[in-house]
Parts: sequence; C-alpha cells; structure tokens
Amino acid sequence: MSDKNRDGEGLLKRHGLPDDLKFLLNRFPRSEWVGHTNLEGMASFWLQRHDMFRELGVMLTNAIVEYREGRTTPQEFAQFFAPRLNFFLSNLDGHHRIEDDVYFPAFVHAESRLKHGFDILDADHHLIHEALVQNAETANAFLQTLDGAIDRQRFAADAYGSANERLIHMLARHLDDEEDLIIPLILDRGDSMFEG
Ligand SMILES: [Fe+2]
Ligand SMILES: [Fe+2]
Repeated sequence: MSDKNRDGEGLLKRHGLPDDLKFLLNRFPRSEWVGHTNLEGMASFWLQRHDMFRELGVMLTNAIVEYREGRTTPQEFAQFFAPRLNFFLSNLDGHHRIEDDVYFPAFVHAESRLKHGFDILDADHHLIHEALVQNAETANAFLQTLDGAIDRQRFAADAYGSANERLIHMLARHLDDEEDLIIPLILDRGDSMFEG
C-alpha cells in the first residue's frame, strides 16, 4: 500500500467508483433501485445497515457540537455519547468483517469483473479500521477529561472532533461506493447468488 493510501488521503479525495466498475450501475442507476423486485431481501437489508451507520455518525457529530457549544453538561454528554459510540464502533467493525470474510468473496465469485472494486472496498475497511481505533482513543481521552480542567476538555474535544470528522468523511465515501458496486449486482442476479 502506498503512503498516500495508507494515510487515507486516497479515500478522502475519491469521487466515486472508477468508470470501469460502473457497467452494472449504469444499467441499474440509483433512481431505479426503489421498486425493483430484487431490492427486497439482502439489498434492502444492506441499505438499512448503511443508513443506520450514517445516522449514528450524524448523532455522534451533533452530540459533540452540542457539548462544545455549551448546550449539554459534561455528564449529559458522556451519558448520551459513550454507549452510542461503543455501539457504532463495534457494529461497524463487525459489519466490515462479515463483508470481507463472507460477502465480498461471494460477490467476486458471482462477477469476477468487479474484483478490483472489492479490493478497493477491502482496502477502505483497513483505513476505516485505523480511523475507528483513533476515534475510540481520542473519544476515551476526551471522556476522561470531563471532570477536569476546562482547557484540557476543550483540547481533547478538538482532537476527538477532528478524528470523528475524518472517520465520518471516509465512511460516507465508502458506504456510497460500496452500494454503487453491490446493489446493482444484487438487482441483476438476485439473492440466489448467496446460496452456495
Ligand atoms: Fe464496507
Ligand atoms: Fe457495508
């Protein structure tokens, strides 16, 4: 992996899938996903999971903004934030693991021309995992300052704020690109693709 990819810059600056991976997306554009018979089942489950991660990301970002603007006390903030952050981090990690171990190999088996796309998504998972670790570390450091001096709190809140912003940005790009690769494939082949 090049340094540029290792630090996530490639993912942060990406504007979507490369054109050679869009041949199914061109046949099944996003505007036609809703209402397609094969959207029921695995595809809609996938989209729901992704929407849950997007919503949790917004919730965590808003919580830190509210706290920094003085609209919640440190205790209120910690009570709201800590369990949701833990849920977000562990579920996202688990989601990526099952994609890498179970679903991506099944997709590549079904359509080998998309293999490069799944390699990109797999590399994203590693970058996002590093960002998740950093997110957890800065969040814990911040939570530990909540009963201490205000300037230490502010400093730690800023560190968490930028780690969180970076993670959410990477995740948003990854989720969109993954859907653009996977959903058209499921619409084309149906859920039978997963049956052995
Ligand atoms: Fe993923
Ligand atoms: Fe995913």
